[in-house]
Amino acid sequence: MTVSTPDANGNSRDDYVRIFDTTLRDGEQSPGATMNVEEKVTIARQLELLNVDVIEAGFAISSEGDFEGVRRVAQAVTKPVVLSLARTNQPDIERALAAVEKAVRPGIHIFIATSDIHLKYKLQMNREEVLAAVTRAVSFAKRHLDHIEFSCEDASRSDWAYLAAVCEEAIRSGASVVNIPDTTGHAVPEEYGRLYAYLRERVANADKVIWSAHCHNDLGLAVANSLAAIRNGVRQVECTVNGIGERAGNTSMEEVVMALKTRKDLFGVDSQVNTRQIYPASRLLSQIIGQAVPPNKPIVGDNAFAHEAGIHQDGVLKHKLTYEIMKPEDIGIPSNKLVLGKHSGRHAFVERLKELGVDPAYLDLNSVFAEFKALCDKKKVVYDDDILALVTEDARHAGEYYALTSLEVGSSSKSTPSATVTLKVGEQEQTASAIGDGMVDACYKAICKAATADVTLNRYSVKSITRGTDALGEVNCLVAKDGMTVAGQGAHSDIVMASALAFVNALNRLQLRRHACGQRPAGGP
Ligand code: KIV
Ligand code: ZN
Repeated sequence: MTVSTPDANGNSRDDYVRIFDTTLRDGEQSPGATMNVEEKVTIARQLELLNVDVIEAGFAISSEGDFEGVRRVAQAVTKPVVLSLARTNQPDIERALAAVEKAVRPGIHIFIATSDIHLKYKLQMNREEVLAAVTRAVSFAKRHLDHIEFSCEDASRSDWAYLAAVCEEAIRSGASVVNIPDTTGHAVPEEYGRLYAYLRERVANADKVIWSAHCHNDLGLAVANSLAAIRNGVRQVECTVNGIGERAGNTSMEEVVMALKTRKDLFGVDSQVNTRQIYPASRLLSQIIGQAVPPNKPIVGDNAFAHEAGIHQDGVLKHKLTYEIMKPEDIGIPSNKLVLGKHSGRHAFVERLKELGVDPAYLDLNSVFAEFKALCDKKKVVYDDDILALVTEDARHAGEYYALTSLEVGSSSKSTPSATVTLKVGEQEQTASAIGDGMVDACYKAICKAATADVTLNRYSVKSITRGTDALGEVNCLVAKDGMTVAGQGAHSDIVMASALAFVNALNRLQLRRHACGQRPAGGP
């Protein structure tokens, strides 16, 4: 990544804001957002369609699953840089390098904390030791790769002069991107912007690197802080689809991208994101992790373009610009959501897939089309969300430990609801029966017995994805064990079946998460 010389107006062809997407790393660390390798590859392909510049695919040393996720993403995409996170020690860096080895554009992201609080309590290192670690790590990585990003964790709470010394050392050792994270979401826009102005003024060779912003949303300021950073020379923003991430989340990709596009008059720079892929990306992620987008979420929420007030409706009908600052079609929101049904042919189906941001080349089209036709036989109208549910289903079940083989439930006004479940548990089949307060309760108890799983169901919700009594029902649940919470999701035209699928999906995620966390190293982000 190079910085080009600006023209007379201060603009250059390379003067744009790089989008560094960390949905698969920082985003995946958020409660309930665990993804398996196939799901990560599906998201990565969508990120490539979005035309993001960098994909942070994981933290390779943290688990076998993370390593495999980075390795597979590195091979699945060709345009974006694919990188892995690493601490400053050599085993971390070597593992990250191995994971991105096959990428067309490989990179590595090395970080160490720089705030006194982190040095004293977490790292138990002094400032000189941290500086030496930066030199060692960055120069070692530079011998293998060109694209080296260096991050000062908890930068916004670090001593500014020391931060400048660390950045200078990282650049001298070979970093091409320098990131100043607001790890705890503590900064406010004016202050965060000023920090970049200070560093770009103070650090030797500051103009030879790309400065990057990485914000968390604890005070709801992640997007505002990222935009303030851009106003102060930052040309890379680290963000996630739907703003998912640790605690209150990371900078939301769609918000920052659309703010730049909508207010180019003010910022003078834009990103290179294909904004028409924003809505498909948002829906795809939401389907995969089983977390609904809040209706009032800017850009991608269901209400983002809904005008309720009479005066607003009147204005929009007369001229959209009266109350709309963006066009829904620029975000890829389909104008007509209900068209497909049993008479739709393969061509129409493939076109709709493309509109939804799904590349048919990565699907077993014959089988997905057959499933679509089967669904059409059950339902009069198949909606976009039905289709997305169909195409994410395969990735969801890839490599899973538990699988639902059969389910029988019984209930009447005179008997206690009961369920018998057969579950594939690893290589074996287990059958168990239970009674419960309702059919779903009986079914969950039977699944727990068959899986010998002792978990707590913290949340359970059913929604009809579409309209009508034949609609696909979507069940979302939150399941916890030993302080770890995961989300599960299932879709089926039978609600009890959707509930069972969601619960089994959650058990699989729990298994994946427990495996990953068992190996997650200390001192991670
Ligand atoms: O929030 C943070 O500081 C991070 C770093 C590892 C970049 O995620
Ligand atoms: Zn972070």
